[in-house]
Amino acid sequence: MVETGTNQTEINPHPEADATARGKKVFIKTYGCQMNVYDSTRMTDALAPEGYAETTKLEEADLVILNTCHIREKAAEKVYSEIGRIRKIRDARGADAKVMKIGVAGCVAQAEGEEIMRRAPVVDLVFGPQSYHRLPGLLKQVEAGHSVVETEFPEEDKFKHLPAAKPAVTRARGFTAFLTVQEGCDKFCTFCVVPYTRGAEVSRPVADIVAEARALVAAGVKEITLLGQNVNAYHGKAADGSSQGLGRLLQELAVIDGLARLRYTTSHPRDMDESLIAAHRDIACVMPYLHLPIQSGSDRMLAAMNRRHTRRDYVELIGKIRAARPDLALSGDFIVGFPGETEADFEDTLSLIREIGYAQAYSFKYSPRPGTPAAGHDEQVPEDVKSARLQRLQALLNDQQIAFNASKVGSTMEILLERKGREPGQLGGRSPWLQPVHVMASDQLIGTLQPVRITGITKFSLSAELIASPNASAA
Ligand code: 5AD
Ligand code: SF4
Repeated sequence: MVETGTNQTEINPHPEADATARGKKVFIKTYGCQMNVYDSTRMTDALAPEGYAETTKLEEADLVILNTCHIREKAAEKVYSEIGRIRKIRDARGADAKVMKIGVAGCVAQAEGEEIMRRAPVVDLVFGPQSYHRLPGLLKQVEAGHSVVETEFPEEDKFKHLPAAKPAVTRARGFTAFLTVQEGCDKFCTFCVVPYTRGAEVSRPVADIVAEARALVAAGVKEITLLGQNVNAYHGKAADGSSQGLGRLLQELAVIDGLARLRYTTSHPRDMDESLIAAHRDIACVMPYLHLPIQSGSDRMLAAMNRRHTRRDYVELIGKIRAARPDLALSGDFIVGFPGETEADFEDTLSLIREIGYAQAYSFKYSPRPGTPAAGHDEQVPEDVKSARLQRLQALLNDQQIAFNASKVGSTMEILLERKGREPGQLGGRSPWLQPVHVMASDQLIGTLQPVRITGITKFSLSAELIASPNASAA
């Protein structure tokens, strides 16, 4: 699982890109999860040797790629309407229009395949997550005048689009970075498309991940978030040929000089093993934040969702993790209106949320995904019931988030200053608990960890003041 937020997000991952470079220009629009953001970065890396520079201006692009997400409702429809919009922009270039090639990548591409070409013939290239490393070759076919659909699922090709052990082109684009450690999922929750669009769970070898992390840190990255649809199912091959879990991987990464923070997302409760729990207790740079979705507080719904754990298993697990790391902030995902969900089932979810207490969470109305078992269920919950439940659930989650943020007021903590803030003279960063924090500070402090005192909260972020430190006063 990978969190995508309450609303589908659209992220241009590299707004700082050099749009003025000579040669061809690629515009990538990224939807959905962090995995897609990471994949878009990899696509740009793969295209750079082909003479493509990134642009943030769609209208000047030679290549437009929509890196799509299929997890939300009407995902495919949104992609088709975006293609229509791009087509208009392309056609406005008149005689030059044909120069602009249009590609659709990501999970909608994987799920829809040929259908995209049929419904939107303006598209030149459809390619799934397992073919990103073949992008330059696919483009050559497009340039030769072919329409290309590449949505095969050769397992041995997984990760070919990711840098190998000695990454030549890892370019850091800030002080925080994502790093994919596994892809795919074998859990088959009955509502979810990921096992179909991303395929079986496969982990990258430890050495490749360590090499990529070192390259990122050498390029200035201070915080790395390990990514995977089911990241804590990670079982990569170690140098001695044995299989290694996420807890051990975190240990190996933690010793990298200059790496200040480690995070990982998204986890399944069944894969939260002892060594990973111990990592939260023993490794200082593993941040006290965990996104551990349960989806529902009702055992009946958990069984129908094929989650393969009970509410009690989850509550006990959280107890163990909190014993290991008492200040841990918890995040989760919730689905309301799963087929057959009664008022009593929904109340169970509310009571679970009260029992656990979340620092923040994502919540969704159930939406049938074609091809998944739950989609064909005949007890679908009416839309108005789903909406009303979602509102109640989000009100509770919002209250908990505000209470969690308020509990930090007056405390001191170290924040990683990542970027300029909205106001002049302000910088923005993140707390160890992933809260956005704003502080008045000199630009020279961007990219550094600074001790701050929390002075107040705005709706979902914290305001802070620098605690005078030699670094801070020098700035
Ligand atoms: N309907 C609603 N929410 C879904 N999610 C995944 N599939 C669906 C669906 N069909 C949510 C889950 C998952 C998150 C990434 O998206 O909560 O954890
Ligand atoms: Fe997460 Fe379940 Fe989907 Fe796997 S099948 S990605 S565990 S929601």
